Amino acid sequence: MAASHSFKLLFFLFLLHSLHIITVTTTMLCHDHERSALLHFKQSLPASSSSSAYSKTASWKASGNSSRDCCSWDGVECDDATGYVIGLDLSSSLMQATLHSKSTLFSLVHLQSLNLAENYFMNSSIPPEISRLSSLSFINLSNSLFSGQIPHELSGMSKLASLDLSFNYLYGDFPIAIFNLSGLLVLNVSRNQNLSGYLPEFNTTSPFRELDIAHTKFSGTIPSSIGNLKSLNKLRLRNCYFSGSIPTSIGNMTQLTYLSLAYNMFNKSDDLSWLQKLTKLSKLNLEDTNLYGYLPPSFANFTQLTILSLAVNRFVGEIPLCLMNMTQLKTLDLSFNALTGQIPRSFSQLKNLEHLSLSHNNFTGVEADIFFSSRNLAILSLSGCKITLNSPHHSNFSLPKLAILELFRCNLTEFPYFLQFASNLRALVLGENNIHGNIPHWIWHASNKLELINLRDNFLTAFENPLAIQSKSLRYIDISNNMLQGNLPIPPPNTYLYSVQKNRIPGELSPMMCGVSKITRFVR
Ligand SMILES: *[C@@H]1O[C@H](CO)[C@@H](O)[C@H](O)[C@H]1NC(C)=O
Ligand SMILES: *[C@@H]1O[C@H](CO)[C@@H](O)[C@H](O)[C@H]1NC(C)=O
Ligand SMILES: *[C@@H]1O[C@H](CO)[C@@H](O)[C@H](O)[C@H]1NC(C)=O
Ligand SMILES: *[C@@H]1O[C@H](CO)[C@@H](O)[C@H](O)[C@H]1NC(C)=O
Ligand SMILES: *[C@@H]1O[C@H](CO)[C@@H](O)[C@H](O)[C@H]1NC(C)=O
Ligand SMILES: *[C@@H]1O[C@H](CO)[C@@H](O)[C@H](O)[C@H]1NC(C)=O
Ligand SMILES: *[C@@H]1O[C@H](CO)[C@@H](O)[C@H](O)[C@H]1NC(C)=O
Ligand SMILES: *[C@@H]1O[C@H](CO)[C@@H](O)[C@H](O)[C@H]1NC(C)=O
Ligand SMILES: *[C@@H]1O[C@H](CO)[C@@H](O)[C@H](O)[C@H]1NC(C)=O
Ligand SMILES: *[C@@H]1O[C@H](CO)[C@@H](O)[C@H](O)[C@H]1NC(C)=O
Ligand SMILES: *[C@@H]1O[C@H](CO)[C@@H](O)[C@H](O)[C@H]1NC(C)=O
Ligand SMILES: *[C@@H]1O[C@H](CO)[C@@H](O)[C@H](O)[C@H]1NC(C)=O
Repeated sequence: MAASHSFKLLFFLFLLHSLHIITVTTTMLCHDHERSALLHFKQSLPASSSSSAYSKTASWKASGNSSRDCCSWDGVECDDATGYVIGLDLSSSLMQATLHSKSTLFSLVHLQSLNLAENYFMNSSIPPEISRLSSLSFINLSNSLFSGQIPHELSGMSKLASLDLSFNYLYGDFPIAIFNLSGLLVLNVSRNQNLSGYLPEFNTTSPFRELDIAHTKFSGTIPSSIGNLKSLNKLRLRNCYFSGSIPTSIGNMTQLTYLSLAYNMFNKSDDLSWLQKLTKLSKLNLEDTNLYGYLPPSFANFTQLTILSLAVNRFVGEIPLCLMNMTQLKTLDLSFNALTGQIPRSFSQLKNLEHLSLSHNNFTGVEADIFFSSRNLAILSLSGCKITLNSPHHSNFSLPKLAILELFRCNLTEFPYFLQFASNLRALVLGENNIHGNIPHWIWHASNKLELINLRDNFLTAFENPLAIQSKSLRYIDISNNMLQGNLPIPPPNTYLYSVQKNRIPGELSPMMCGVSKITRFVR
């Protein structure tokens, strides 16, 4: 009884408390000068965009029922107690305008959060006046057509916790002092192709969680002190111009879940021994980073990985069995290395694979049936691996989601039978194999999504009837350098490339071929 009574009392107190909040928010109207600042800001936008039904500013009105309380307007958030505007979220509001330094936006000095992402600011530069909003802790100007220099005044905004300037046209040098902001947790300036800069020495006390400068012109070396960013979850430095080597201190950033250093200019090579403690990683991309050596046994502990790409390096040795501990893997790319040996049958444990590329290594062999338990496989690239097709012809093994199959130079002697059931196939590459005999008719219509077929450099002798290819989506057909005789199949009307050279096809073309008007390149 007592317990139930005190529960009721608690509940009543809770209700009172909520009512109190509701009362405050409904009676506290916004301040007049902020209301008119917002209305002026709206008026500075061209009528076409501001009147659009999709724009959040459509509800901002000078007269009418909700006109007085700007706190009730779409995208506007006020402080419950003071009524000042503290948040403005105008993301994806179809704003199409220049952001001027005199904009009344910069008089909303109580703003803590400003989101203008996904608009069209027509190559405006970011006005330095933004730093007058000294309470701002969250700024998002992502994907909004901003250009020019990032104002160095941003580095004076001491409350800044999250700054997203990604996906714009910002040029010039990144103001390095921004890294000195002691409360900055998130910095994203990725996809500003012409933005240059370098990484500073990092302070031990830095609380950074996410640092993304991918796809910029940042250069120099990655300082070893980056290992001091012990709280960092995400580090994306891909497609920049960093040189030197990957600092082994990155191995001290044990909270990392996302690490991408791919496609830089690292000119000193390194192995993977520094990686062993980063067992929280779910995405790891070290493509083309000048790494060498064996795939480390510590991979046994990387059970959270969903994406692992180590392509375009100089890894040697066999695929270690510990890799099969990564049962969450969706993408595995080990292509363009110097790996050897048989591809282990235990690959069949990687049931979640969607994208697998092992091409361009020195593997001795692989039995194709090990992939049939990966039911979500959409991209399979095994070019250069010697493949054994050991599933019997009568079996209905299939990869129902398979879209891209690359089996270039795999010493295949026959068409993989499982393709009969690959109804989502878009691209089929079987060039430079050892396939003799007819091109089976089913290959042209196993999938009505087929766009590309490459059978060049085999020993194919004839086409099976009928000779018209029904698959309407086919664009690229390469059957060159075989031993094909007789009439050519009629390609579908939108074919872009039809390469038939180096065969035994008679000089005269079938009259039907002349009706195929849209062929852009017919190579013979
Ligand atoms: C304004 O509010 C009143 C009372 O709630 C309502 O009758 C009236 O239709 C509203 N006017 C507009 C333009 O929404
Ligand atoms: C903005 O500038 C970039 C780079 O100069 C240019 O490619 C783009 O077309 C410009 N966009 C607009 C809307 O002016
Ligand atoms: C900024 O806005 C974009 C687009 O809405 C969003 O994808 C991104 O996550 C936001 N950035 C931050 C740091 O919240
Ligand atoms: C940074 O922004 C880009 C582009 O808006 C986005 O794709 C990326 O996921 C963001 N980075 C992080 C770490 O969230
Ligand atoms: C960052 O702060 C340190 C220490 O206060 C100072 O030496 C350094 O010059 C600052 N860096 C920039 C770019 O302002
Ligand atoms: C980057 O700069 C180059 C050279 O100044 C210019 O041609 C190019 O349009 C710029 N690219 C972008 C995306 O701004
Ligand atoms: C490191 O952080 C401390 C405390 O925030 C600060 O006093 C010092 O200037 C910083 N040093 C550098 C080099 O940034
Ligand atoms: C990793 O951190 C430990 C302890 O903080 C330190 O002794 C070690 O030198 C660091 N390793 C690297 C490679 O920076
Ligand atoms: C996996 O992690 C545990 C705990 O950190 C460690 O003792 C073990 O040696 C690691 N295994 C491998 C193969 O690195
Ligand atoms: C990882 O693989 C090793 C053998 O390489 C095995 O002993 C261990 O139990 C596996 N760990 C997990 C979490 O699957
Ligand atoms: C693969 O092996 C052959 C012969 O053993 C060798 O000539 C070639 O360089 C190797 N390729 C790679 C990428 O290691
Ligand atoms: C290719 O396969 C044939 C038989 O199917 C075999 O005799 C030959 O040795 C294989 N070639 C290579 C390079 O594995």
